Amino acid sequence: MKGLILSGGKGTRLRPITYTGAKQLVPVSNKPILWYAIEEMAAAGVQDIGIVISPETGEEVRSKTGNGERFGVQIQYILQDKAAGLAHAVKISRPFLGDDPFLMFLGDNLIQQGDLSHFLEVFKSQQPDALILLREVDNPTAFGVAEVDPFGQVMRLVEKPKDPPSNLALVGVYFFSALIHEAIAQIQPSPRGELEITDAIQQLINTQKQVQARQLRGWWLDTGKKDDLLEANRLVLDTLLETCIEGNVDAASQVIGRVKIGKTSKVNNCTIRGPVIIGDDCHLENCFIGPYSSISDNVKLINIDLEHSVILKGASIVDINQRIIDSVIGRRCRLTAAPPRPKALRFLVGDDSHIEIT
Ligand code: TTP
Repeated sequence: MKGLILSGGKGTRLRPITYTGAKQLVPVSNKPILWYAIEEMAAAGVQDIGIVISPETGEEVRSKTGNGERFGVQIQYILQDKAAGLAHAVKISRPFLGDDPFLMFLGDNLIQQGDLSHFLEVFKSQQPDALILLREVDNPTAFGVAEVDPFGQVMRLVEKPKDPPSNLALVGVYFFSALIHEAIAQIQPSPRGELEITDAIQQLINTQKQVQARQLRGWWLDTGKKDDLLEANRLVLDTLLETCIEGNVDAASQVIGRVKIGKTSKVNNCTIRGPVIIGDDCHLENCFIGPYSSISDNVKLINIDLEHSVILKGASIVDINQRIIDSVIGRRCRLTAAPPRPKALRFLVGDDSHIEIT
């Protein structure tokens, strides 16, 4: 059984963060999203993993993630020259996949820990041509949706349906036999110009192949947008964070609940209410850091209130007299107070940035 993780794509929905970095490397609880997928595969016993990368962000993914040694797996990188769709990513991975069955995981998706092994067993024991995972959602019109018979056999898949046949969305985790390659060879690009994996699975159904579905029991998130990224951060901090204070916290500070503070970080006169993770070499002074905040390495926070936010490496936020919530702050961003006169706002903001001011 091989593993294929898709870590290319355009990442348009997470701009401007994705102008300068891969969305799959954005940290959730200070760990790149992509690494959760690798760890899940490793835990399920999938050790031979191919990661699809793009020309724009591939080198960063490769150099940060390495050859798999740290996860106890072997990783090969597969370059997709353009983001031509999920089925296209499978197509160009054929030399790596050969005729082996494989588990495909979208590199910006997160599922609750420990769920994969069970479904891998189902796939191995029942040997369908494909096994897809589904999750009930409130807004099925925003997803690929499946119509399933009472025996778990998939009848039909529809992409972002106006009139959804069910509220069961396709989770970004799929198990395939080698028959998927024949199906991909028979489909055409969709109106948006991509070879769609849902069309390839529908092709399997149309040719009477066995496509089964199972419902995911734990949570699932597609982190491709800001609010979903924050929600993933909340869920991971809620379920996985353990207290560990390695940095220096002075006597005037208060640390409440589960909080992790990395090496050589300094916390002076702050209240930190967990779950909160703070990386290495950070400097926090006169701050309130509220629940569900992840602060990467090398961040400077002085005189601020922060909650439910993700702050990336090297950012600095100083003297802001309103609470910052629900925010993602990119690498090396600087947020500072304006001088008192003239009373005005001053910006140097990158393309596609989003700012809300009261
Ligand atoms: P998507 O989030 O569907 O696509 P995208 O990354 O282009 O994002 P956006 O819609 O915001 O522009 O992709 C799901 C995952 O699959 C993600 O990790 C990127 C990856 N992917 C590829 O590796 N190759 C591709 O051709 C596409 C479309 C996506």
